[in-house]
Amino acid sequence: MSDHLKKIYSLYAYVYDTLFGKIFEHGRCTALKMMDIEPHDTILEVGIGTGLSLPLYPKGISIIGIDLSEEMLLRAKTKKMKYTLNNVHLSTMDASLLAFRNNTFDKVIASHVITVVPEPIHTLNEIKRVCKKEGDIFILNYAGIDNQFISRFEKIISPIRDKLGLGKHFDLDLLLKEASLPVMSKQQVNIFNACQIIKCRNNTSSEA
Ligand SMILES: C[S@@+](CC[C@H](N)C(=O)[O-])C[C@H]1O[C@@H](n2cnc3c(N)ncnc32)[C@H](O)[C@@H]1O
Repeated sequence: MSDHLKKIYSLYAYVYDTLFGKIFEHGRCTALKMMDIEPHDTILEVGIGTGLSLPLYPKGISIIGIDLSEEMLLRAKTKKMKYTLNNVHLSTMDASLLAFRNNTFDKVIASHVITVVPEPIHTLNEIKRVCKKEGDIFILNYAGIDNQFISRFEKIISPIRDKLGLGKHFDLDLLLKEASLPVMSKQQVNIFNACQIIKCRNNTSSEA
């Protein structure tokens, strides 16, 4: 499945910013505001893709961005150079197997990623592990349009979306409960309020 996603995103990389840049910009900007980043914060962005969020971070903040797709990361690296973001470090990595020590980051964000990865619970558990106790975890996702017919249609086409690497339909609240991640706040964003940002608090500490 990871190989399939890698292949798909090596193609999306060419058109990703054109297709998903402007349309999801409001969500990204709101998420960054919600993160309320302090100068000393260490940030992990999981599935950073082409780095559309990079110019939105306050300058000088230490950010690590990881992604499965080298082609997507290549675009992120171009943005890092363009905006001279010397404190940004980008690595190819699988979100379900993060190469970081326990309790490393103050804040972790996964934007349009949790519904894409094959085993979201593994990814959430990894995010929890590398996030410090009392650190914040932000999940930005397409959540669906509040209309009975559209939502029924979305459930039907969910397997196709999943195959195309564009995320699948599932109950994110249930998943967060399963991962024991308490929700602190939620905000609807983007056109038709179709996406939501969920802020969770990591109330567990992994052994150092
Ligand atoms: C829909 S894009 C979102 C990109 C970016 N976060 C954004 O908001 O524009 C999903 C990203 O997740 C990455 N991805 C998918 N599975 C992954 C995994 N297991 N580990 C790390 N990244 C993954 C893809 O390569 C892709 O860049």
